[in-house]
Amino acid sequence: MSSQTVSDILPRAPTGIDRLDEILGGGLIRGKTYLVTGETGTGKTIFALSFIVYGAALGEAGVYVTVDEDVESFMLGAKAFGWDLEKLVERGKLSIVSPSEDFIDRIRRKDPDAVAKSLVRDISEVVERIGAQRLVIDPIAPLVCMEKDVQVLREFTRILITRLERDVRCTTLITSEIPSGSLSLSRFGVEEFLASGVFVLGLARRGSRFIRTLTIRKMRWLPVKPTVYEFDIVPGRGIVIKGPLEESSTYSLHW
Ligand SMILES: Nc1ncnc2c1ncn2[C@@H]1O[C@H](COP(=O)(O)OP(=O)(O)OP(=O)(O)O)[C@@H](O)[C@H]1O
Ligand SMILES: [Mg+2]
Repeated sequence: MSSQTVSDILPRAPTGIDRLDEILGGGLIRGKTYLVTGETGTGKTIFALSFIVYGAALGEAGVYVTVDEDVESFMLGAKAFGWDLEKLVERGKLSIVSPSEDFIDRIRRKDPDAVAKSLVRDISEVVERIGAQRLVIDPIAPLVCMEKDVQVLREFTRILITRLERDVRCTTLITSEIPSGSLSLSRFGVEEFLASGVFVLGLARRGSRFIRTLTIRKMRWLPVKPTVYEFDIVPGRGIVIKGPLEESSTYSLHW
């Protein structure tokens, strides 16, 4: 029998979130795509950006595709949070890209195959320019939400994830918003099947207080049990996991 460990066989990209890296046995599997889902305001952007900021601190360049927000206001928000992205950009460790409305409008008119291909081509160029090893697309929905046909959306998402892994080869986080009150895991109900792992961010209510929760819902090829953790968002640090959500019948989970 081989004496190689899971980590030897599957190299990892640490997330920088202390407890999470411990739980994952070192981090995410390099070159794979992971989904960060949750209702609005649950911390998806902070989670995804912390992955890029931590990677830069390790010397790994990252590309952040911000779809909802323009680059300037994204950088300002991050600065207010305690992350100086300008410095990372200057050092060639970060490239922030925001697709123009015109671009989004144009790609929506094409067929999903062509859209996914042209998106991957564009992302690939930016990734190669700075030698990025980490990639974030935040969020995926506006790139395709004009499309009414669920089958088409699914096909688009499938092609996008497959091509990103084949051609871009970064460790990738894609965020997907779950509509408020929905019990599904993602916007299109397909991202979670294609991703190698799924993190669901949410809120648990106890009386008038909300507690932030992170659920590791799926982690392909890693010995990780689905568990709900409690976390805080700490400026300058990002996601700080406090521990498994305390067992109590007074909590009701929302995501
Ligand atoms: N500077 C800050 N200091 C402390 N907490 C902050 C700060 N900025 C944001 N937060 C917290 O982070 C939360 C938002 O997190 P984030 O933007 O990552 O959510 P999201 O899931 O990406 O939301 P959306 O779906 O709207 O994009 C805020 O609601 C707030 O509680
Ligand atoms: Mg966000």
